[in-house]
Amino acid sequence: MKVIYPGSFDPLTKGHMDIIKRLSSMFDEVIVAILNNENKCSLFTVDERKDIIKEEIRDEKLSNTYIYSFDGLLVKFAQDHDVKLIARGLRGVTDYEYEKDIARVNSTLYEGLETIFLLSNPTYSFVSSSGVREIAAFKGDVSAFVSPSVEKKIKEKFNY
Ligand code: PNS
Repeated sequence: MKVIYPGSFDPLTKGHMDIIKRLSSMFDEVIVAILNNENKCSLFTVDERKDIIKEEIRDEKLSNTYIYSFDGLLVKFAQDHDVKLIARGLRGVTDYEYEKDIARVNSTLYEGLETIFLLSNPTYSFVSSSGVREIAAFKGDVSAFVSPSVEKKIKEKFNY
């Protein structure tokens, strides 16, 4: 069985990676789908995000995990890949309130599409990409939130 794990991943955090590893052990194939939402607030380009995730997947030896990017609607991407299962991580009730509506919209647009939720590891329940971007912009220490290789790329970007 295949599952799609969509997101912006700008940048990939330890929380995302924990979910990817868990999905990789639960499903035959995991498709990490990066939303191509480049704008002036993006930290990394989609290609850079792809490379970062590829490197982590290789280091973790997740041989059943593949990286794609997509534009437009997630349901279109799911249809194109013939996958009817989406996975999202939930850090708390705020995520749930937001995610449940998106899941219902998606299943309305694509009949039979299911969204499953994995509770985030409590260690990472306060970690967000937007938080990492803000800390990075002020040249702060992001090591608790991202892997050493992502930290290195952030430091290169912000010259610190
Ligand atoms: O990591 P994020 O930014 O929380 O991921 C959000 C994402 C990419 C899963 C979501 O914004 C998405 O699926 N966007 C694609 C556009 C879409 O399908 N919208 C319809 C649902 S309202």
